[in-house]
Amino acid sequence: MSFSKNLFQSEFSDSQMTNEEIINKRRVINGFDDGLMQASPLKHPWARDIFKKMQRNNWVAEEIPFQIDYEQWTNNKLTEAEKKCFIRALAFASNLDGLLTKTLSELIKPQITSPEVCLAISRQIYEEALHVDSYSCMIEALSFNPEEVYGLYRKDKNLFYKNRTVLKSVSKIATPGFQTGTLENDILFLEACTTNLILEGIFFYSAFLIFYNLGRQNKMPGSKEMIQFINRDEDLHVALFVNIINTIRQEQPELWTPALQALITQNIIDSVQMEYEWCLSCIGDGMLGLTPENTKEYLQFIGDTRLASIGLKKQWNAKNPFPWIDELTQGNMIEVNFFEGRVKEYQTGTLQW
Ligand SMILES: [Fe+2]
Ligand SMILES: [Fe+2]
Repeated sequence: MSFSKNLFQSEFSDSQMTNEEIINKRRVINGFDDGLMQASPLKHPWARDIFKKMQRNNWVAEEIPFQIDYEQWTNNKLTEAEKKCFIRALAFASNLDGLLTKTLSELIKPQITSPEVCLAISRQIYEEALHVDSYSCMIEALSFNPEEVYGLYRKDKNLFYKNRTVLKSVSKIATPGFQTGTLENDILFLEACTTNLILEGIFFYSAFLIFYNLGRQNKMPGSKEMIQFINRDEDLHVALFVNIINTIRQEQPELWTPALQALITQNIIDSVQMEYEWCLSCIGDGMLGLTPENTKEYLQFIGDTRLASIGLKKQWNAKNPFPWIDELTQGNMIEVNFFEGRVKEYQTGTLQW
């Protein structure tokens, strides 16, 4: 039961639960929830830590300079193959952020009964909306035809089926009236949380690679900068869902059956393969320093990282073939020196009118 609809329909009684009992009954799902969001004291302090980090990561699309990108694009500083690759990466990333904005708000958040976890997911939903907006700002700044980006899935079979797989993977809890509280539904919800981890933690990664590799060759620097901001947000989204999954496992260990573990492992194996095939449809035989071999190894490295983060066995023991990404994304998946200045500007907490 995610929301105590009947709580305020009964008559007042001062013999209701104590504060201590309320906090002790708090769970990520299936906990006591009066709907009033008492977020102190905390049962899940990791959620507030992530929420606070999210607040410090404020950015808006308007601060990204796209002038050089515009000049490079219109003056053909990119090859036709690089342009096609760029548009494909942008098309899928923008489609996926759009889907996430809806699935997080309509399918995941309504089932959460921990106020502090709700706060973090609410911020995450805002950030997905920010990402959706940032792609539209990029499309406008670079004078792209929106139809060629947002509508690519209508003309491109690979993208159509990739989007279809994303939607299919979340459809198990998209039935009308779905509610946690039974063993079967709780297992479905936990699986949906791992699906979200796959969407945010694997399916963006060939797009990130493409934008970063262009940036490494001094091509489309504003776009690369915007993707770094998005990547920094996504890294916290991944951390949030790793904590959600692992906490549900602790609170309801009966859900983490061998069958579910095998299913999730297979889902991650299939997703790495799908992301690899999508990446090949963007880079062909190779471009921008990306080859079929090194992109496969990188995506397997990412897959191993996600498996290990939720207590599942690594499948490939792959190494990261792009050590420079470590430098670029150290810690919070960010270029630390570059972002420090900007983040500090937002940490002053002052308002300017
Ligand atoms: Fe996003
Ligand atoms: Fe995200």
